[in-house]
Amino acid sequence: MRAAQVSKLEGPEAIEVVDIPEPQAFPGGVVIDVHAAGVAFPDVLMTRGLYQLKPEMPYVVGGEVAGVVRSAPEDAHVRAGDRVVALTMLGNALAEVAVVSPRTVFALPDNISLEAGAGLVFNDLTVHFCLRNRGRLAEGESVLVHGAAGGVGTSTLRMAAALGAGRVIAVVSTPEKAEVARASGATDVVLADGWLAAVKELTGGRGVDIVLDPVGGDRFTDSVRSLAAGGRLLVVGFTAGEIPTVKVNRLLLKNVEVVGAAWGEWVGSHPNYLQEQWAEVGPLLAAGKIAPPEPVLYPLDRAADAVASLDNRTATGKVVVTIR
Ligand SMILES: NC(=O)c1ccc[n+]([C@@H]2O[C@H](COP(=O)([O-])OP(=O)(O)OC[C@H]3O[C@@H](n4cnc5c(N)ncnc54)[C@H](OP(=O)(O)O)[C@@H]3O)[C@@H](O)[C@H]2O)c1
Repeated sequence: MRAAQVSKLEGPEAIEVVDIPEPQAFPGGVVIDVHAAGVAFPDVLMTRGLYQLKPEMPYVVGGEVAGVVRSAPEDAHVRAGDRVVALTMLGNALAEVAVVSPRTVFALPDNISLEAGAGLVFNDLTVHFCLRNRGRLAEGESVLVHGAAGGVGTSTLRMAAALGAGRVIAVVSTPEKAEVARASGATDVVLADGWLAAVKELTGGRGVDIVLDPVGGDRFTDSVRSLAAGGRLLVVGFTAGEIPTVKVNRLLLKNVEVVGAAWGEWVGSHPNYLQEQWAEVGPLLAAGKIAPPEPVLYPLDRAADAVASLDNRTATGKVVVTIR
């Protein structure tokens, strides 16, 4: 089968399209003919060996697929011929065939294309975990998201209202990304330059209830400052590179929280959690209450460019690679 593979930890440019044997179907595994696969920022880090998960070399890029089930165990919740999305849990996605555990496979609603499906499961379940579980989002609360035109960002914009949020404020670095954020469902968009003052003005000085932060770096202290009393800052990632620190007196003085949100870790220690999440998110997608993503598509031959667009910050929205 054709696959996008990394054999040298030299960044996205070193991704090559190669012919390799199909993966072995393990007992109890679901075999999927992959039509499209999503890429995300962790894929950038993995191409340099900088992510916490370090697969054996060489490895196949990507963590999520959409396709059609070729075979499934008798007792699985999906059958041959079903349209599905699935998590390969980082690695083994950008290839013509994937074999996954049934607990990471989800039936794709009929109203969502395979290309859009390949761009939703990784980020949407991350954001659901962040807002529901770690952020304890209550009906009508306001949510601010950094890197709002990125993968996690657009997922937050598409989902927050369906999960109960009132105002959803997007922070982006360019006017072009502001357009993407608006189209993804932001109620307000502010530019990263001067964002704190703009948010204070928008909220009449009150601040926001939840900040979802996949960026880190120098946004962090201002994110604490942007919280309303009782607010929660969700630490999701560090695309800016620098891992920030917090002076805890700021938390005490304002009665606010900084909360770690590592979805993959949670999934690893809560085996039923993914299917519980899909039981809520799947019907919202099927009913159109969460809009599907409109990913930027790259053919498999350009897998390296797809991952590089996340690295060089030119990506807007979710990035998906079409496999067949
Ligand atoms: N905690 C979890 O469970 C979990 C799960 C999935 C992903 N993540 C993390 O979430 C983060 C975002 O992932 P993603 O797939 O959404 O990434 P993405 O699509 O590349 O979006 C990230 C955004 O970060 C901003 N950014 C700021 N400085 C940047 C820089 N130096 N380089 C690149 N982007 C920069 C960009 O927005 P602007 O240009 O508008 O600033 C960009 O749109 C990553 O750190 C990832 O590891 C965490």
